[in-house]
Amino acid sequence: MRGGGGGGASMAAALLARRGGAAARARASACWRQLHSVYQSAELPETHRMLCQTCRDFAQKELAPIAAQLDKEHRFPAEQVKKMGALGLLAMDVPEEYKGAELDYLAYSIAVEEISRGCASTGVIMSVNNSLYLGPILKFGSEEQKHQWISPFTSGDKIGCFALSEPGNGSDAGAASTMARLEGSEWVLNGTKAWITNAWDASAVVVFATTDKSQKHKGISAFLVPMPTPGLSLGKKEDKLGIRASSTANLIFEDCRIPQANLLGQQGMGFKIAMQTLDSGRIGIASQALGIAQGALDCAVDYAEKRMSFGSPISKLQAIQFKLADMALALESARLLTWRAAMLKDNGKPYTKEAAMAKLAASEAATAISHQAIQILGGMGYVTEMPAERHYRDARITEIYEGTSEIQRLVIAGQLLKAYRG
Ligand code: CAA
Repeated sequence: MRGGGGGGASMAAALLARRGGAAARARASACWRQLHSVYQSAELPETHRMLCQTCRDFAQKELAPIAAQLDKEHRFPAEQVKKMGALGLLAMDVPEEYKGAELDYLAYSIAVEEISRGCASTGVIMSVNNSLYLGPILKFGSEEQKHQWISPFTSGDKIGCFALSEPGNGSDAGAASTMARLEGSEWVLNGTKAWITNAWDASAVVVFATTDKSQKHKGISAFLVPMPTPGLSLGKKEDKLGIRASSTANLIFEDCRIPQANLLGQQGMGFKIAMQTLDSGRIGIASQALGIAQGALDCAVDYAEKRMSFGSPISKLQAIQFKLADMALALESARLLTWRAAMLKDNGKPYTKEAAMAKLAASEAATAISHQAIQILGGMGYVTEMPAERHYRDARITEIYEGTSEIQRLVIAGQLLKAYRG
């Protein structure tokens, strides 16, 4: 654990100091054994409860008070990201030897939810660094690559990004047309990547490019590219509906040369690296959606208890109670799906279908819950004085990035039919 970064850091430091490689693995399987008790009592293991409280305190004190301003100014929360690095939140399942917190994915899910409850932009910044950038390097990188490309990205001083989508293809990820050709001892990259979260603030990118487009997905490879670097330029910062404190932009590669050693995994393995990375990433986005939904529900309950109408708080009205009940039901169902997907991953079991279900359920719940929260707040839900309108704007992207809801349905049905057909 690195040095503390504020009030919550010392608590997290104490919590995280007790972890260790073997202990973390034992805890992961203990977590799995506790699955039923988690479902039955909704109680988390002590480590996870402490982490949850630490992240909740951090989000309440450090993020919620400034989230509206960050959103308004499209401002990257640099100071807060550094504090999160000190808390171990930017490299949560990375082993200690690479300067990570060496926790499990259930812990990661809980932390992303709590951070997103305070500020959904910060939630996606954290999720992209953990799942989309560090994740594939940890899984597919050589020892040398792990030391070079992971360790400096754990403290919040540097963050990473992931470049798969292109202007001409998003859902059809196998149709990548960014080219990579080997010239002597260098790869030369040409093409444009689109919708890259963290683009303006990142110090490195995992980028997917094809060495032979006729081979479709089998021609795609993954590469590690430092940022900035000659031949790589940034497109304009997108002016978005929500998550406005995180930057999104194109990455334009024009004869961008990188050492041959920056190939991640084997040549031609890129599509599978991307798909496996997105399986984990979808748990992160599901957790971000849970945080947004919880924030919207908190806001709606608080308002319903305080707002007087027809001589009593509107929470006394059945019309409001029915809405609150449906919101809580959707949220808690999605949370259980998300925790299940995280626990499957922690226990080395297949979780492609479960991650897609979690993301689908949580993102649709976030959209529906934030919509109803505005309905409960009425006019106050429509103005920027209250966070409800920001939750509503932030929720929408969770149904789009890291695979649209339609893609999640395709993945779920594909896995279902594959299992049936054997
Ligand atoms: N794990 C491992 N391998 C997988 C896999 C998985 N989850 N999914 C597919 N594969 C393998 C298949 O087994 C198959 O292997 P073989 O070639 O050996 O047979 C290969 O990959 C091709 O599989 P499919 O035929 O199923 O591939 P497809 O072209 O039909 O596409 C898809 C499948 C699910 C639609 C996929 O393209 C997809 O997930 N699309 C969405 C992409 C996406 O989520 N993009 C978001 C980008 S990140 C982002 O949002 C930006 C950000 O910064 C946040």
